[in-house]
Amino acid sequence: MFQKARCIYLIKTNSEYQQLKNMSMRLFIVLIVILMLNSCNSDKNTKKANDNGVPERAELSQDSKIFLGNRLFSEKTCITCHAINSKIKGPSVVDIMHVYKQNNADIVVFLKGNSKPIVDTIASQVAIMQANIDGFLKEITDEELDAIATYMLHVDELRNK
Ligand code: HEC
Repeated sequence: MFQKARCIYLIKTNSEYQQLKNMSMRLFIVLIVILMLNSCNSDKNTKKANDNGVPERAELSQDSKIFLGNRLFSEKTCITCHAINSKIKGPSVVDIMHVYKQNNADIVVFLKGNSKPIVDTIASQVAIMQANIDGFLKEITDEELDAIATYMLHVDELRNK
């Protein structure tokens, strides 16, 4: 009689234990699902930020700027008037940089037409470069101008390498 009662008690606790185990398992699964949904949501948020035009690309490294600037300097025809080391139609890049470094001036500001020439101030010469600033230089993006300026700034170091 006593034996039987104990047996029933054991079965009862055993099934309660099973139930408890099932419940905690279910809780665990719900928790994982919530975590997964959350990570999906944050994915969506970054996508949205990109759609809104937030720049995805980091700024170019100095070496990439010099490389790009070097290419643009010939592609955009600067090279036809500016040799690296000797005067042709315009002053040499080395001469330009010498004056700009001495005056702590900014080439990009000049190329955007926001500062006066300081290298060659002879009116006929200034007019030639001014025509470029008013013309094809308007088509060049800020990033490209920055690359050209970085290239010009480091041209003498490149020659010494
Ligand atoms: C058609 C010839 C010609 C082309 C093409 C040309 N330049 Fe010039 N550039 C000149 C002349 C001439 C001067 C001298 C006048 C002067 O200093 O403003 C000059 C001067 C400059 C100066 C010095 C400005 C100063 O403060 O006196 C810079 C910087 C310059 N050019 C950059 C460029 C860049 C960058 C390009 C290409 C995107 C370019 N030039 C294309 C003829 C040219």
